[in-house]
Amino acid sequence: MHTDQLIASFRSAGQGQVFSFWESLDAAGRAALVAQAREIDLAEVARLNRTLVLKTAGVAGVDLSGLTPAPCTMLPENGGDAAQWSAARAAGEAALRAGRVGVFTVAGGQGTRLGYDGPKGTFAVTPLKGKSLFQVFAEKIKAAGLRYGRPLHWFIMTSHANHEQTEQFFAAHRYFGLDRARVHCFRQGRMPAVDFAGKLLLESPGSLALSPDGHGGSLRALHRSGALDLMQSEGIDTLSYFQVDNPLIRCVDPAFIGFHLLAGSGMSSKMVPKAYAEEKVGHFCLQNGKVVVIEYSDMPLAMQRETNPDGSLRYSAGSIAIHIIDREFARRMAGGADAQKPETGNLKAEDSDPNASLPSSSGFRSQVSGFPAAAAAALPFHRADKKIATVDAAGRPVKPDKPNGVKFEMFVFDALPFAQNSVVIETARADDFSPVKNAEGVDSPKTSKEDQMRQFARWLLAAGAKVEVDATGLPAGRVEVSPLFGYDAETFAERWSRLPAKPAVTEGLYLE
Ligand code: UTP
Repeated sequence: MHTDQLIASFRSAGQGQVFSFWESLDAAGRAALVAQAREIDLAEVARLNRTLVLKTAGVAGVDLSGLTPAPCTMLPENGGDAAQWSAARAAGEAALRAGRVGVFTVAGGQGTRLGYDGPKGTFAVTPLKGKSLFQVFAEKIKAAGLRYGRPLHWFIMTSHANHEQTEQFFAAHRYFGLDRARVHCFRQGRMPAVDFAGKLLLESPGSLALSPDGHGGSLRALHRSGALDLMQSEGIDTLSYFQVDNPLIRCVDPAFIGFHLLAGSGMSSKMVPKAYAEEKVGHFCLQNGKVVVIEYSDMPLAMQRETNPDGSLRYSAGSIAIHIIDREFARRMAGGADAQKPETGNLKAEDSDPNASLPSSSGFRSQVSGFPAAAAAALPFHRADKKIATVDAAGRPVKPDKPNGVKFEMFVFDALPFAQNSVVIETARADDFSPVKNAEGVDSPKTSKEDQMRQFARWLLAAGAKVEVDATGLPAGRVEVSPLFGYDAETFAERWSRLPAKPAVTEGLYLE
């Protein structure tokens, strides 16, 4: 579309303010603004304004009809079938040995709550060595590759804001000993922000306020980056998905992978039993025979507090954003129209996307731009009211101190109801989940470091070491275990047993 036509289309859509400062921009500034404007799907913005921004009265809430708790496979110690867990584990290990599994980290978030200046994955998180989140994952992935005799491919979704810094960080640290040809960073898509009247906001006189399209954008970013094709050519059909902020995560969990594969699932999830009724997590439920996640903010308190006859919480299965995703399910969810239909098991490869940037010589695209309406149709957008830096009528910067507009995000768990045979398994929180979300208080660097040390202490105690711990299991002295020494109780115990002389567990013990 010619620039004049483009500007005219914004004016007729009531979005002419995007070009308010056109006259003051030089040629490069105009070209940059036009390039951004071409990313915008005005029909999509109009639809989101209509459904999410302008319609405050009578907005249909989340559909809570016919909800029941989702069936979950419990851990053997909580009543699960130990033989089933063993079979799942064996199936997962076989898949790992066959090289069918890839690792996927979503790291495109803005991390505003933590308030750290840099990609969150570069944040120092371990108790003694101050290793970054990326290093922790890299070492776990390397250790799993060695254990199963197949080095793993690692896919990392970044954002436009943090992509270069992320790549530089990996290069500066020589990919933490991983084969750089197996570490793939690619950007997620962006969405424009609007004010409460639905007008697209400018971040500066020459640029729109754009932000990452949510972790739900990961499915189409996987597709449009070429990651799914790369997986296919490498024989990888299963992705282990987790968030960048959780150092306790088992990046590669054979039992989880096995449950997913044995069920023939499109997308599977881990849950932890909620700590208390009002805990702020999503709830795994069943609706129309499909697994769905209902956020705490969408579930009435009375429902959150419902109990079973034995007094336990009825809606107890809390979501911790850990999934296994089938490659072709991701491809179908990235594909738009078809993705609206429930899963049939008859999966169709996607056509090429005109908005994707050109493949590099390796066929892999680290740049994913735009948000074609077709792809956006697959997952719903959610509204988030935020403080959005913008400009006033004279083009001067405005830093609001209260929310002044709306960002649009997709959530990855909205893909679950489209998946066939979706599996939910229980995991022990202490072994899988202690995220770094806030600078202080709950889910902060302090709580996460303590949870890591509790885990190391449990492994040491289980392996027969003498460890002084307090009532919460926290060791008296700071300890740290490199994932290359052991990344779960079992791998730790194997390695510990081979140590010719066992070190005393005192302040500063680091096992590598
Ligand atoms: P959060 O919901 O914690 O959001 O993301 P955030 O942006 O990182 O942090 P706040 O809310 O601004 O403090 C959960 C996970 O999803 C990823 C994040 O990187 C994190 O791993 N994410 C989130 C994306 O990859 N892209 C997004 O657009 C949003």
